[in-house]
Order: sequence, then structure tokens, then C-alpha cells
Amino acid sequence: MNNFEFYNPVHIVFGKGTISQLSDLLPKNKKIMITYGGGSIMKNGVYTQVTEALKGFSYVEFGGIEPNPTYETMMEALALAKQEKVEFLLAVGGGSVIDGTKLLAAALCVNDEPWGILQGEIPVEKAVPLGCVLTLPATGSEMNGSAVISRTATQEKLSFGSKFVLPQFSILDPETCYSLPDKQIANGIVDAFIHVMEQYLTFPVNTPLQDRWAEGVLHTLVEEGPKAMKNKTDYDTMANFMWSATMALNGIISRGAVEDWSTHIIGHELTALHGIDHARTLAIVLPANMNLRRNVKGEKIIQYGERIWGVTQGSANERIDATIEKTVAFFESLGVPTHLRAYDVPKETCTLVAERLKNRGVVEFGEKDDITPELVTKILLDRY
Ligand code: NZQ
Ligand code: ZN
Repeated sequence: MNNFEFYNPVHIVFGKGTISQLSDLLPKNKKIMITYGGGSIMKNGVYTQVTEALKGFSYVEFGGIEPNPTYETMMEALALAKQEKVEFLLAVGGGSVIDGTKLLAAALCVNDEPWGILQGEIPVEKAVPLGCVLTLPATGSEMNGSAVISRTATQEKLSFGSKFVLPQFSILDPETCYSLPDKQIANGIVDAFIHVMEQYLTFPVNTPLQDRWAEGVLHTLVEEGPKAMKNKTDYDTMANFMWSATMALNGIISRGAVEDWSTHIIGHELTALHGIDHARTLAIVLPANMNLRRNVKGEKIIQYGERIWGVTQGSANERIDATIEKTVAFFESLGVPTHLRAYDVPKETCTLVAERLKNRGVVEFGEKDDITPELVTKILLDRY
């Protein structure tokens, strides 16, 4: 097992009716800004619950944060937050609202152009505190210190991470998810599943406990995910799905193990170029990543295939092939296509993504630093 540190102070408040606890969780006498997305919270009653709980607090609102939150939109939020002298941020929504709000929290504490935070040029040394009300299980953003931001003007999608943007608290009420469209539930299952894979499907360093935690999350997603799509208002099913997605990316399952993240690095480029939903980009890239990097991931793929899908017969290569097929079939069963051509993307994208990464200096990545621009192209062509 590798050396590690683990620090996750996020106060999770989980369960039915918990939004009312905002009145205890939020700081009194501080100016608050509520941030939200395109209006789902107005339709499903979450906005009403939040504003009920905020009676007596001083707050302003900023709505309209889009899926794959843009830098441009968040700079509008920044101007308002500065003007209103906001001291606490409350993100109400999915990963996009939470990520956008994390950028805002950090940007409020820097003097230079905040894009430097995403470029890794401005270190985040402090941030305005934030809390969350999560309405979409998927990203784990509610319990981690990462954010992914898109810039429309330059077609970029970059991320940053800092302990200073870990939420102070996150409220997870599964009933807020009853209004989710099927597509978003499917996306959430796939995103959470692949978060686990990025931290588990690498090479073994003797971490049996972390492996079984990871496999526990995968098993639960395979069992509960499809049920959540079929019956969105089944409380326990939604609760199990919601908690699985949080556990998939709050840092715990990867401590001491080896992480990859190459599927995300390549997937983000597909979203930046073609606007494909985040989870769907991952469903394209992961099977090819497993196929073409079986020299790196083989041992873990065989373990995963056996423990999650019951693949026990055949040679190592046959078992790896069968495991990839089972994984693809699972994503497709959720209505998530796993080929690039299904998203009307030209073949040139396969080389363009590699060039874009190369131009940013991303030329050796993955858990063995073995992914070159040539391999990026091969991975995308493998699933065209
Ligand atoms: O904008 P509104 O109207 O709220 O609608 C949203 C949006 O259209 C809707 N929605 C959310 N909750 C709902 C709901 N509709 C009905 N009922 C509800 N309860 O769902 C749509 C998608 O929302 P979004 O927040 O974009 O989805 P998600 O949570 O999947 O977030 C995706 C973003 O997170 C980033 C992705 O790259 C992408 O930008 N990620 C963030 C990570 C992190 N911070 O750790 C890790 C991930 O790997 C990921 O990269
Ligand atoms: Zn993801």
C-alpha cells in the first residue's frame, strides 16, 4: 500500500426532509448567495424548501448555471457576489452548480484573472466557505474539493482542486431526485461507476480493503442504478444510489491505491469539442482504455471481471474481453451509447483530441505515464 493522507471534513446531512436543517447549518449574520442551475429546483419544490429554511437570513440569488458550467457565467456570478459582499455560498443543484460555486468561492479571494486557477497558475490559498444541497447523484462534488469548468470562448474544459473548496456541509435528500429525467439518472450511474474504475482499475499495490470498498460501490450501482431508473420515487433505492455516488468520489476508496483518471482527461476534451454529456464521454473512452491498456490494467481487470460480473473462464485475454463486453452491455442497458459515432462526431476528432492534449503538455499520462498522443488517438478510434 502506498503512503497517503486523508482529509475530508465535509459534514454530510442525509435523508428525508433534511433541507429544513439549513437554518441550523448556515452562518447567521453573514450575507449568503444561493446559486442554482436552469430552473429544475423551481419545478420540484427544492427552491421553496430552501427559501423557507432561509427565512430571516440575508441572501441574494444567482441562477442560470448551465450543465458543464462556464467560466463566462461564473464571472457574472463573481461580479454580483462582489457587489453584494457575499460571505457564504449555498449551491443548490447537481455537479455543475456545485463546481461553478467552488470556482466562485476561490475566485472571490484572488485579484488576478481567475482563469489562472484552472490553468494551475494561481494557487488556491483560501476561499469563501460554501455549503450544498445536492439534487443529482453523479459527480461526488458534494464531498470533494474538485471542480471542472468549461470556457466557451476557447472550447476548454479544465479542472482544479483544493481543500479550501471542500463544502462545509452537504445536504443529500433523496426525495429531491424524484424529478430527475431518465437520462440524468443513467449519466449519474455511469459517472459514479467510472469514478470508481479510475481509482480501482489500475495495477495492484496490495490494497484489499480499498478494493472491496470500490467493488462494494460498483455492486451497489449495478444493483440499485437500474432500479432507480425504473422507479424514481422508491426512497430506499434512490437513497442507496445517492450515497453510492458520493462514496465513489470522496477520496476514501483510493487512499493508498493507484489512480488513473485518463478516461476523464480524454472525455473532457469530447465534452469541450462536441458538448457530449460528461458521463457519456466516459462510457466511450473506458472500454477502449481497458482494451488497449490491458498490459497495464490486466490483473485488475481480471479481478473486477470475476468479482463484479462473475467472469471466471478462459485465458487471461478471453476473460478481459468478456469483462469489457459485460461493462459495455451495462452502460448500453442504461441507454448510454458507447461508440463515438453514435454522437455524430467526425472521425477527425480522434486526432484532434490528441493534438489538443499535446498542445497543453499532456503527453504522458495514466497510472504508468504510458498514454502518448498516439495512444489517445488509438483509444478513440477503437470506439469510433
Ligand atoms: O440546471 P437545472 O435546471 O438544475 O437542471 C439540471 C441539468 O440540466 C438537471 N437536474 C439536476 N438536478 C435535477 C435536475 N433535473 C430534475 N430534477 C433534479 N433533481 O440535470 C442536468 C444536469 O445537471 P449537471 O449538474 O450538469 O449534472 P452532473 O451532476 O452530472 O454534473 C456534471 C458536471 O460535473 C463535472 C462534469 O465534468 C460536468 O461539468 N464533474 C465534476 C466532478 C467533481 N467536481 O468532482 C467530477 C466529475 O468527474 C465531473 O467531471
Ligand atoms: Zn466524472
